[in-house]
Amino acid sequence: MTSIVVGGHYGDEGKGKVVSYLALKDDPAVIGRAGVGPNAGHTVVHIGRRYGLRMITCGFVNPTSHLVIGAGVLVDIKTFLTEVEETGVKGRVSVDGRCVVIEDEHRRADTSENSRKIGTTGSGCGPANAARVNRVARLARDFPELADYLADVPAMVNDAIDAGGEVLIEASQGFGLSLYYGNYPYVTSKDTSASSAAADVGVGPTRVDDVYVIYKAYMSRVGEDPYVKYLTDEEIRGSPVWTRILGKADEKGCQGTGNQKIAQYLGEVGTVTGRPRKIGSFDYELARYSARVNGATQICVTCIDKLFPECSGARKKSDLSREALAHVKGIEDKVGVKATLISTGPDVYDIIDIRDGPRS
Ligand code: GTP
Ligand code: IMP
Ligand code: MG
Repeated sequence: MTSIVVGGHYGDEGKGKVVSYLALKDDPAVIGRAGVGPNAGHTVVHIGRRYGLRMITCGFVNPTSHLVIGAGVLVDIKTFLTEVEETGVKGRVSVDGRCVVIEDEHRRADTSENSRKIGTTGSGCGPANAARVNRVARLARDFPELADYLADVPAMVNDAIDAGGEVLIEASQGFGLSLYYGNYPYVTSKDTSASSAAADVGVGPTRVDDVYVIYKAYMSRVGEDPYVKYLTDEEIRGSPVWTRILGKADEKGCQGTGNQKIAQYLGEVGTVTGRPRKIGSFDYELARYSARVNGATQICVTCIDKLFPECSGARKKSDLSREALAHVKGIEDKVGVKATLISTGPDVYDIIDIRDGPRS
């Protein structure tokens, strides 16, 4: 089986957590990192340790999987080498020689007035992708620091599929950040849908079996975007769930507007930038549209415990409260796809897995 994991809203939905769970549960032979590049910050919490990864796939938690970075992904050499050390994956991680490398000039260019207006992550991804399109970028194969890691990633991935093995592809960002489908110009420098993720690692659409679209139980957005609807005080007052969370945020001494207090209370801070994320109610319309364009076969709802703390760490659907079940059902009904994974905490195994069929 070949599966792709993508974000269904504006990034930070918890793809890292879901990929690490699938890596342990489904035991893929190969796990591919797709998506834009080190603008992503994926979080894994495993055996009491927290990793914030920007280049290595969160699937590294499975010690027998081979990890690859597809040709479509931008590489930051320093970040990559640091993460190889941190995760101890040398010997089982490969980079496609055709990846574009982010250089100092790209990082400098990502501090421009326009980058600030968009609120980019400042990681140099936009300028590096522009250099790629202008055909002036340098590729991974041109850098001796990467010589030990180079491989033909599409060959490895397709060999694994031919051998009947499990392949997992981790995308980055989210549908609402897509260069094609997001709120242009407040978007990232590439399409972020499942089709692009497949192309990033060199897998044809006919070889993909499952597309997991990940949604957080509420919305969060880091960076500028005047089109996103954020929680207003009125909306908070009109919702028992948000009113309860604001009350707890006040008790804890969180500061600022209602939205800012809730973001602080929920711990919503950018993994890469450290910027506070803005919070919104679940956007059903965007979720449905992104499920369609991504060709979702399964959907996953994360952070259900943040809205419904009584569900923290639940591993069976019957352990969810009535309110939480109703929230998940509302998402399933409006998106039109069954939620087969429900994440109930940051730890890899805090998850309810109700997928059909045998899994290894
Ligand atoms: P991008 O590629 O940057 O979009 O990131 P991402 O989708 O991998 O998500 P990221 O790790 O940036 O943010 C998700 C945050 O929520 C992390 O801090 C996770 O540890 C945490 N998280 C994920 N799932 C759950 C969950 O079910 N409950 C709780 N409490 N935290 C979760
Ligand atoms: P860039 O990708 O750094 O150019 O940033 C463009 C927009 O996408 C900004 O609004 C960023 O905040 C947002 N963005 C890029 N990557 C991520 C991510 O991984 N999570 C959340 N937002 C992101
Ligand atoms: Mg993130």
